[in-house]
Amino acid sequence: MKEFWDRVLQFCQETTQSIGDRLMLDAGKLQAEQKTDGSLVTQADKWADRAIREAIAKNFPDHGVLTEETTHIFPDKEWCWIVDPIDGTTNFTRGVPIWGISLGLLYQGTPVFGFVYLPFLKQAFHGFWYGDSGLTGYTGAYLNNEPIFTSKDSPSKSHLFNLCARSTAILKNPFPCKVRMIGVASYNLLLVAAGAAIGGVEATPKIWDIAAVWAIIQAAGGTFVSLDSESIFPLQVGENYGNRSFPCLVVSRQELVSVFKPLVKFITTKMS
Ligand code: IPD
Ligand code: CA
Ligand code: CA
Repeated sequence: MKEFWDRVLQFCQETTQSIGDRLMLDAGKLQAEQKTDGSLVTQADKWADRAIREAIAKNFPDHGVLTEETTHIFPDKEWCWIVDPIDGTTNFTRGVPIWGISLGLLYQGTPVFGFVYLPFLKQAFHGFWYGDSGLTGYTGAYLNNEPIFTSKDSPSKSHLFNLCARSTAILKNPFPCKVRMIGVASYNLLLVAAGAAIGGVEATPKIWDIAAVWAIIQAAGGTFVSLDSESIFPLQVGENYGNRSFPCLVVSRQELVSVFKPLVKFITTKMS
């Protein structure tokens, strides 16, 4: 199985590096259109989406693919990639150098590997999380191939907690941490995996915002909590995931779920 994971990792590194290099040339220079859900899309998102799909089809011809800019139906395939070609399109469009390419690899509907690359930051996160899939191979979470772990600290006013634009209502009440709002769902949550933040919340992420980070965060020791009653994975074959949001809380360790869950119930789960 390690040979397979070596191939997966090398594929992700090479693909996101070359696509990221190309995207950096367009950052801050393209007009964006608004999609029906209010989010932005540029020619670069569409180009990267197509380039990643073609690369997957060439390297893993028996794997399925679900991408933000193309097809949202979960396919009847044992292995499936879930792709956000640019996470943080608003930052990308405005010239803020924090945005990433997110690739999640699912086995029987559940993420077992995630890879997220932020080209300007030159940061590549990856992680293996097999759960009860029966798969074996490498374990752990990594930033630029160095192991990363979530923080063991307790919340304080000198620790960080990341919000999204639709979760600011939680600040109406006293909150135990300093807050940050990065504008990139994957990076918001990956900062918890890297130990930089204690927790983070995303009110309206889509499946392509969270598939890769779900594996990486847990591989780093963190806890991923769905704020909806249903659990997110396994995804269901034939279901359209285009319009579904998955409000979620991520914390650095299990004991903090009971601390933060009551504090984040004020998030707005409608797109704006
Ligand atoms: C969005 C960003 C944003 C998050 C939204 C996402 P996009 O992704 O990650 O930070 O709050 O929920 O949809 O549209 O830039 O890929
Ligand atoms: Ca996104
Ligand atoms: Ca996107």
